[in-house]
Amino acid sequence: MSPKFSNTREGYQALSQVTHFGDEDVRDLPQRTKHNQTLSIWLLAIAILCTILDFSMIFWDRFLRVHLRSASTSDELELLPFQNPYLNLEILYKDPEFKSSTHDPIINNVPVIAQVSNQEHQKILPPFQRYKSTGETRAPIYERRLIVTHELESIAQFRVLDFGMENCSLSLTVPPRDTTEDFLYTDLGDSVILDVWFLPARHKLDLYNLSWSKLPRPRVHIGHMNVSYGKTYRMPSFQCKSQSYQTFAVSCSSPGCLVNVTSKDIGPSGLYMYQSQTI
Ligand SMILES: *[C@@H]1O[C@H](CO)[C@@H](O)[C@H](O)[C@H]1NC(C)=O
Ligand SMILES: *[C@@H]1O[C@H](CO)[C@@H](O)[C@H](O)[C@H]1NC(C)=O
Ligand SMILES: *[C@@H]1O[C@H](CO)[C@@H](O)[C@H](O)[C@H]1NC(C)=O
Ligand SMILES: *[C@@H]1O[C@H](CO)[C@@H](O)[C@H](O)[C@H]1NC(C)=O
Repeated sequence: MSPKFSNTREGYQALSQVTHFGDEDVRDLPQRTKHNQTLSIWLLAIAILCTILDFSMIFWDRFLRVHLRSASTSDELELLPFQNPYLNLEILYKDPEFKSSTHDPIINNVPVIAQVSNQEHQKILPPFQRYKSTGETRAPIYERRLIVTHELESIAQFRVLDFGMENCSLSLTVPPRDTTEDFLYTDLGDSVILDVWFLPARHKLDLYNLSWSKLPRPRVHIGHMNVSYGKTYRMPSFQCKSQSYQTFAVSCSSPGCLVNVTSKDIGPSGLYMYQSQTI
């Protein structure tokens, strides 16, 4: 008994209260232990659940997710249709009141032109590709080679650039003979006739892993190109949908032909697509 409360009423009351609480504590003891046990079981269950979740996440990340990711790499992504980045421009240009500005034709260059062999149908020829840097702020200029012989064909795949520039023409520009290393030859002289084919490729071709047997079929002969030094030859123009792929094969038409033309500029040089305005 605490001497401070011994002879006062409050002291007695306080004391009896303490005793009172003490009594209840003792009476609740089995119930409390039961509560604690239930709580521990719940906490343990949650801890186990979290551990299982953790491990299944790690497992998913290490094994399953990698598998999913590799399934949706380039091949499958290439099959997805392109979304038009030029939202609602069609609606704008349909308005007869809307005056469109005039744009110069654009030169559409490809980063690489691939070669395939029409004699060895499985052969994959590593395409020539070199680029020169044009300063830090601009994209590099890729050099690509149009090589055509009686055995080799060149494959070029263009994606139609911009909006409303849907008048396309496959073109070839060769510099004058004494200013270039480009080489044109046939048994009949310096003017080479090439066959041009349209390939029905709806998707991007892997030009770094291409052989004759992998080319999309059936090919359609769309005309000839008459190539000579110091001249630009343009194929008849055709309508080309913005963002679509246009894929061509170029082969020899003249006997003993040999063509080796390097495109190395942003401007008209070698094989490129010439696109002019249609809106
Ligand atoms: C397409 O462009 C060519 C020049 O490459 C031009 O002669 C022709 O008139 C144009 N066609 C259309 C429909 O704009
Ligand atoms: C094409 O010409 C370049 C030089 O302009 C030369 O280095 C290359 O070997 C030639 N390629 C073929 C297949 O003749
Ligand atoms: C090239 O394509 C073949 C199938 O056509 C494929 O098996 C091979 O892995 C590809 N090679 C590369 C380097 O992509
Ligand atoms: C090809 O072009 C050359 C020179 O431009 C010309 O002499 C020749 O007749 C043309 N050939 C054909 C088949 O158009």
